[in-house]
Amino acid sequence: MGAYAAAYERSIADPTRFWGLAARDVRWLVPPDRVLDDGAPPFYRWFTGGELNTCDNALDRHVDEGRGEQAALVYDSPVTGTARTYSYRELTGLVARFAGALRALGVDRGDRVVIYLPMIPEAVVAMLACARLGAVHSVVFGGFAAKELAARVDDARPKVVVSASCGIEGTRVVPYKPLLDRALELASHKVDRCVIRQRPQLHADLVRPRDVEWDEAVAGAEPAGCVPVAATDPLYILYTSGTTGRPKGVVRDNGGHAVALRWSMENVYGVGPGDVFWAASDVGWVVGHSYIVYGPLLTGCTTVLYEGKPVGTPDAGAFWRVAEQHRVKALFAAPTALRAIRREDPDGLMLGRYDLSALDTLFLAGERLDPETYRWAARMLERPVIDHWWQTETGWPIAANPRGLEPLPVKPGSPSVPVPGYDVRVLAPDGSPLPPGEDGDIVIRLPLPPGTLPTLWQDDERFVESYLTRHPGHYLTGDGGHVDADGYLWVMGRTDDVINVAGHRLSTGAMEEVVAAHPAVAECAVIGVADPLKGQVPRAFVVLKSGAGPDPAELRDELVAMVREQVGPVASLKEVAVVPALPKTRSGKILRGVMRGIADGAEVVVPSTIEDPVVLDVLRPVLRPVPPPPAAP
Ligand code: COA
Ligand code: AMP
Repeated sequence: MGAYAAAYERSIADPTRFWGLAARDVRWLVPPDRVLDDGAPPFYRWFTGGELNTCDNALDRHVDEGRGEQAALVYDSPVTGTARTYSYRELTGLVARFAGALRALGVDRGDRVVIYLPMIPEAVVAMLACARLGAVHSVVFGGFAAKELAARVDDARPKVVVSASCGIEGTRVVPYKPLLDRALELASHKVDRCVIRQRPQLHADLVRPRDVEWDEAVAGAEPAGCVPVAATDPLYILYTSGTTGRPKGVVRDNGGHAVALRWSMENVYGVGPGDVFWAASDVGWVVGHSYIVYGPLLTGCTTVLYEGKPVGTPDAGAFWRVAEQHRVKALFAAPTALRAIRREDPDGLMLGRYDLSALDTLFLAGERLDPETYRWAARMLERPVIDHWWQTETGWPIAANPRGLEPLPVKPGSPSVPVPGYDVRVLAPDGSPLPPGEDGDIVIRLPLPPGTLPTLWQDDERFVESYLTRHPGHYLTGDGGHVDADGYLWVMGRTDDVINVAGHRLSTGAMEEVVAAHPAVAECAVIGVADPLKGQVPRAFVVLKSGAGPDPAELRDELVAMVREQVGPVASLKEVAVVPALPKTRSGKILRGVMRGIADGAEVVVPSTIEDPVVLDVLRPVLRPVPPPPAAP
């Protein structure tokens, strides 16, 4: 039996022993009494009775163990022309000072802090400072609009918000402070204090005495030590898109998270202490939490924080330049980024200019790695290109080709095999197991391994209803697909109304709420349709109120502006079609799945419960326009 199969079998047969051994790589202040606490299913807790501090494990511990002078964080920002390295000792000092500043502003163990920052070192410092105090951070991605930020503020109820004067998108300076001010106006929860990082590119107006500048806050601060917390205490809340417009507050604990991420670095990614790891994502997403900040630092790696894009900052060679300059061993990116690079540098001419001898592996996730992009990347890089599948909820990979444990053959289009700890099954709608090759709901048998979500923030009921009810005893991933005869997983897409636009997870429900609020719109459906660069893009179908006859181009512009204004620019809604009616069941449910299937050119079974099949016939050419015949020679 290979190393992977052996580890997988051990992890499923005896999770207590498996994760108990992995927990030895974490510095505990009080060792746990129990590895797996399964006393109250469907809720499971890991490492109960244990106490630790995640920041201690990510920073102080490495200084104590002799890594003080090693680079912990490399900030590489082509958009500002800056590159700066912070050693473990330096970063520990900065984090302790900022933790002291937060404490002086009233933040204590268990309090929430919302972080709304671009990709600057202060984002990492603020996250770790919260962890140091035992406070709970909630990072909000910069591409969301004020209304989305307000929804998160209202749910997390933070004492303090940490933000900056601006972000930089390519060559554009994006002011953050007006968005923050607007969000705090919209929110019903009142935030006591805001810490604002003034960036040289733009000075923000402060609202005194609520707002304080980062430098002022830090100036008189007493460095704070690490506060012991329970393994089961929350480390962070990360909001993610669900089926409805209301985001889900995924909770991460301290103990299980530290153990699982530490384990994943060596066993999934094949990196260890001293290696350079670069996740080209954003701290606002789970990839940024797990593999820009916590995973690499818990492991004693050097992590790269890149403020730039795959293309345009300045060109399609940017990723390879960073990989060369910082001797990156493992690079983690989204397939959409690779497609953007390929579009500008199809023959790898820019790639060829850089020395990538330090680079072992390219990992891709965030959406399915389409075989064409896989083949291109593997050909260009001449080294392993690994698709792996996971989600905000799990916090670390569910399926991967476990490079550290045992490299397995790659099958393009599949993220390979279930990672140890995850008992992955494929079930039919009635809950019966499906044989290899047959598509169904991809679920994970409970208990989920350490590091995955124990619940949703202050909403156990929604946690159970969203994930644990459809197939009792199993966690519903929301993805559909199958397992093949070799045990490889094929994740083919979401079975709900979540879409993935350029690696950003978005809810079509949130966009529908905005579109439906337009005075001329009677009803609408937003679905994700395939896009060669972004993977998916949203498309809105609207039915107008009788008598409403706005100019279609004007209506489109208004709806696009509303979605941009209320959801955020990342939603990238560009296409709006006015249609006479939407296909519905007799009970009035819009058949979004059928619409999606037709738009993607899939074989679609029209349900017998459809109210009026003619509606679908009218819609078909709009959903999937027939391409024009080739031009005559
Ligand atoms: N703050 C403010 N605005 C942001 C933002 C942020 N953090 N991130 C994105 N936006 C804006 C962009 O400026 C853009 O605005 P525009 O419509 O005015 O041009 C809009 O949101 C859409 O952005 P994006 O989805 O990034 O599209 P793009 O066309 O600018 O770039 C890619 C396309 C493929 C290069 C880019 O999406 C990309 O690099 N994706 C990878 C994402 C990723 O790493 N995901 C993490 C999962 S691993
Ligand atoms: P997020 O929570 O933002 O990480 O998005 C998670 C969702 O992205 C998953 O539920 C999948 O739908 C999709 N996804 C992420 N990685 C992959 C992958 N490697 N293959 C297929 N789908 C993926």
